[in-house]
Amino acid sequence: MSLRFSSHVLNLHSAKHQTFFNRFSSDFITRIQVSSTTPYALPYSPLNKLSREKFNHRPITASVTPSAETVESSSFRAKKPNDVNVLVVGSTGYIGKFVVKELINRGFNVIAVARERSGIKGKNSKEETFNELKGANVCFSDVTNFDCLEKSLESLSVPIDVVVSCLASRSGGVKDSWKIDYEATKNSLVAGRKFGASHFVLLSAICVQKPLLEFQRAKLKFEAELMKEAEENGGFSYSIVRPTAFFKSLGGQVELVKDGKPYVMFGDGKLCACKPISEPDLASFIADCVLSEDKINQILPIGGPGKALTPLEQGEMLFKLLGREPKFLKVPIGIMDFAIGILDNLVKIFPSMEDAAEFGKIGRYYAAESMLILDPETGEYSAEMTPSYGNDTLEEFFERVLREGMSGQELGEQTIF
Ligand SMILES: NC(=O)c1ccc[n+]([C@@H]2O[C@H](COP(=O)([O-])OP(=O)(O)OC[C@H]3O[C@@H](n4cnc5c(N)ncnc54)[C@H](OP(=O)(O)O)[C@@H]3O)[C@@H](O)[C@H]2O)c1
Repeated sequence: MSLRFSSHVLNLHSAKHQTFFNRFSSDFITRIQVSSTTPYALPYSPLNKLSREKFNHRPITASVTPSAETVESSSFRAKKPNDVNVLVVGSTGYIGKFVVKELINRGFNVIAVARERSGIKGKNSKEETFNELKGANVCFSDVTNFDCLEKSLESLSVPIDVVVSCLASRSGGVKDSWKIDYEATKNSLVAGRKFGASHFVLLSAICVQKPLLEFQRAKLKFEAELMKEAEENGGFSYSIVRPTAFFKSLGGQVELVKDGKPYVMFGDGKLCACKPISEPDLASFIADCVLSEDKINQILPIGGPGKALTPLEQGEMLFKLLGREPKFLKVPIGIMDFAIGILDNLVKIFPSMEDAAEFGKIGRYYAAESMLILDPETGEYSAEMTPSYGNDTLEEFFERVLREGMSGQELGEQTIF
């Protein structure tokens, strides 16, 4: 059996992490002044003549200490979108790309931070990244290296109003998840703050409400520090977006079923449910978080339109679209527990297998846990409590994949089992 999981997971604190942590203090965040005559440094971008002109009229006086000046900087909400500079990290990801597009469509000045080789397995060249992020000021940098990120942002010579993070580990490896979901995301916060950001929009995940996996702990640690930053600095705010399942996470079986294979599900296919949300709908919700006052300092769970769907219902939908009798393969969830038990024991002998063991736990988690709000009173998942947003339905997505394939819907980089 081959199971694929989207990139995520979790791990431990390194010495590097500790150094980084020490950095995140008010002392470290200092006031910067950059002359408006500083030549523009968007050295890799052929796109930004207009933006540069616009920015050139905006000398930087970015303040990041928790002072009245910081509060003043939050007045970006009173500005027109084309006067608001939004830094997007994770801009080349499944959701990040759509967030960049949406922000550009809404008229914001978007600075998209990207790697020189972006995308799954670094398949995109700089030129391809420019094309993908058309309309944004593309800033090639390294979010995992604070000094590098800081220098890159300094060279832009523009203030940042808002940071939007769509970062996530691509490999899903244990260390990589802490490095990206916690450390690099925090680098983006600290660097963004240094250059004036007074609002941070974080793409998180609804599953962190029941943290059994390391990547969830990494995300929660960053969420906690983000909230603390807002608590301690009146002029700074956040919006934490916790979506339910993405379409890509539910489309993995469409082509197999089209080819005549059964739809595979755990237990009776009703162990879990979700309200899947499309990339454009989620991007729109995230873009709302940039200016909406009612999303300030909020944790925002969000699903797509329509009712919550179990794997059984998703399978039935697929067979209906194909005009075929449903054919299911029901796998006992105990098989996952057995595999995880073996992997956990192997890790004790071969520590290098920690990622494989964690992937097993991730698989088990998503096979049995719903991507819905966990009602604190009943301890049960509640579809009713999970808000819906947008228009795109899973049925339309399945139709599209049946027609056009899964292109653009690839998961992360690891295949396990
Ligand atoms: N899958 C789901 O159903 C689901 C549901 C709810 C929430 N979420 C959450 O949504 C978030 C985003 O997911 P996604 O699918 O959009 O992620 P993704 O497609 O894997 O994109 C990850 C982004 O992070 C960047 N990144 C990763 N490693 C990096 C590194 N070492 N250095 C620099 N940049 C790096 C990637 O850049 P490159 O292009 O250069 O690799 C890319 O821009 C995650 O936090 C996830 O937990 C997912």
